Amino acid sequence: MLNQRYAAIDQGTTGTRVVVFGEDGKHFSPAAIAHKQLTPNPGWVEHDPMEILRNIRSCLNHCGVVDAIGLAHQGESIVAWDAKSGQPLYNAIIWQDQRTESVIRKMRAQGVEERVRAKTGLPLDTYFSASKFGWIMRNVPGAVELAKRGSLRLGTMDAFFMFHLCGTHVTDYNSASRTSLFNIHSLEWDAELCALFGVPIEALPEVRDNVGHFGDVRYESTTAPLTACIVDQFAGTYGHGCREPGQMKITFGTGAFLQSITGTDVPDAKGSGLLPTLCWKMPDEKPVYGLDGGVYNAASAINWAGKIGLFSEIEEFSDFPDEPAIARGLAFVPALSGLGCPYWDRSAAGVWAGLSLETERKDMLQSILEGIAVRSAEVIFAMDKVRPIGETISIDGGLSSNTYFKEFLATLIQKRIISPANREITAQGVALLARKGLGLNYPMKLRNQNTMTEPGKRDLRPYFEKYKDIISRSRNLRGD
Ligand code: G3P
Repeated sequence: MLNQRYAAIDQGTTGTRVVVFGEDGKHFSPAAIAHKQLTPNPGWVEHDPMEILRNIRSCLNHCGVVDAIGLAHQGESIVAWDAKSGQPLYNAIIWQDQRTESVIRKMRAQGVEERVRAKTGLPLDTYFSASKFGWIMRNVPGAVELAKRGSLRLGTMDAFFMFHLCGTHVTDYNSASRTSLFNIHSLEWDAELCALFGVPIEALPEVRDNVGHFGDVRYESTTAPLTACIVDQFAGTYGHGCREPGQMKITFGTGAFLQSITGTDVPDAKGSGLLPTLCWKMPDEKPVYGLDGGVYNAASAINWAGKIGLFSEIEEFSDFPDEPAIARGLAFVPALSGLGCPYWDRSAAGVWAGLSLETERKDMLQSILEGIAVRSAEVIFAMDKVRPIGETISIDGGLSSNTYFKEFLATLIQKRIISPANREITAQGVALLARKGLGLNYPMKLRNQNTMTEPGKRDLRPYFEKYKDIISRSRNLRGD
């Protein structure tokens, strides 16, 4: 019996965790550390990258000896730093940050969106990294000077962490594909896009396969190779076991993150509002592509409801009547940060439709869950049209333990829903990748106990069609 151990670093939006996996599938999490959420202006979200780097190191110090380390990170968030000192020039600008909204609007008006989409698969949106890099170049003193001297380094946060942990300036194909600067057809940084967003191409990291030797990490009194790097959502996709076209997963976190696998060619998703994305690339293999669709508000809608006093215990999101709120005429559009996929409309705002004197707090909670499910179903239906989705989808995250939510979603989409008891799906994905990065390609024993939710008989599609009309009323509600 082999007894290798793998440390999966799960560096997410709210905190950093490490999970150690054994070859027998047993795992434990020796450390988890939250970091500060900095919101210096409305719509701005920043993190201190040095604080997170310290947290990663401190998590690793609890791992003991491992054979390999994998890094999952928070996707589109970026850092700019000085190659000589390693110091960031500014805080990390996080994927949720909307400071570049006016720049994005201007670029849309200039008619460049199709050009960007054709090369990257991505629409123009503040979500992706490119406009955040552009903001740094225009607003942070010293950035242009450093670039002229060849000392500026730009990257998604993985690149910053690996610069410090391994002494290299590298990223991976999946992370690069979330920036809006990477051509997912030719697999290289795109000079035209860099010029469009005002990003010096030479400051960007070298792009590597998702598994391989990224460098060696020293921690405590030991060293281990970092052999995998990937965006956390795609680590989740891998961790769910999605490998074949038609397999998909949803992670219900702050938002709902949906990913499906389509195959080894870039999927033609024109007009669908879905994002063709490079999921991962293994050494000597073609890239695996998929479709990505994010709904901005899932747990964030629930947290908001708690904040305004609609509930005090999360258990209140249960024991609902069998009759869905939507069938009783009550619908909630959780566009509290705008509408993500397939609309990508930041001008949208939350809408509650069908309120009456009879509406009770409990009805409102039920309709919040349904609203998150219906928005997710919109993305699933769109994915199904581009590349048929199988009969089963996997979900994880907080909402995957809510029975009403799962039954409503399964019935609406008429597919089975699998939710693993293992809460460490993202970490499992990155541990499997780190293991693969050591060259171990035979299957690892996994301890996944799944709960299966069967679709109910009720036809909820007519309510879905009505809901689409309510969604259209959520648009253009936000002021500038
Ligand atoms: O696209 C952003 C996503 O990768 C962040 O996920 O889990 O860190 O909120 P999470």
